[in-house]
Amino acid sequence: MVSFRRYLELVKNVKKDLKTPKLGIEKEIKIENLTFFYDERKHKIFNELNIELKKGEIVQIIGDNGTGKTTLIDLILNLLEVKKGSIKLDNVKVDDIDDFSLQKIVGIVPQNIYLFSETVRNNIKVGRDINDKKILRLAKELNFDDIVKSEGINLETFIFNNGGNLSGGQKQKICILRALIGEPALLILDEADAYLDVKSKLNFYNFIKNTKDDRITVFVSHKEQPFLKPDRIISLPNSNL
Ligand SMILES: Nc1ncnc2c1ncn2[C@@H]1O[C@H](COP(=O)(O)OP(=O)(O)O)[C@@H](O)[C@H]1O
Ligand SMILES: [Mg+2]
Repeated sequence: MVSFRRYLELVKNVKKDLKTPKLGIEKEIKIENLTFFYDERKHKIFNELNIELKKGEIVQIIGDNGTGKTTLIDLILNLLEVKKGSIKLDNVKVDDIDDFSLQKIVGIVPQNIYLFSETVRNNIKVGRDINDKKILRLAKELNFDDIVKSEGINLETFIFNNGGNLSGGQKQKICILRALIGEPALLILDEADAYLDVKSKLNFYNFIKNTKDDRITVFVSHKEQPFLKPDRIISLPNSNL
């Protein structure tokens, strides 16, 4: 699980350099002629793949298990190195962007949820200078109040054992708040609604649709989501066949 560690680096310790302006994405992410395989397997997961992701769009990426959805995300985040071709944010290759700047651009809800042994508050803030008011406001907009101010769980609740004391949906909501609170220019949702009940899913979809203009939203899933209604759907070819 190499990327698990790198994901942590991406979200942790964002506070280091407050003077650097928050970077945005002016126009697009361009994936050009991307070829990738894992060294131990050699089998090409992507062969000359071309995708453009435009600012303001919600793009859903669909593919069966093992088609490379998570791998594609890891490549966009420069957690893996492309073998051929390039991935550019507004004409700058992702491998020329330092981790710290990338951190500020990206909000990710990864497929594998990870939580720190800390309070709910600190799991959402992860070192950033964010006050409770802002967290509560976002939770209210998402209708995720149950996670921040209910009897059972609130900002003070201590999380144990990667969320062993929480339900799957509660854990996912914390990860969603963590990703959205930084107002990322690139929001990546990797099967990010898998544990949400229908009502929470709808609230979540509505929120990302209502706030989509200033960012690129990539919604990864193994099947179509009837209520999401993305601007575009990209199906990844099944390279295992
Ligand atoms: N670190 C890795 N090393 C080798 N093979 C991997 C690694 N991660 C994933 N794979 C393989 O790459 C393919 C794509 O995996 P993944 O991107 O996780 O698919 P998806 O997210 O679409 O289910 C699968 O066949 C998987 O077994
Ligand atoms: Mg995956």
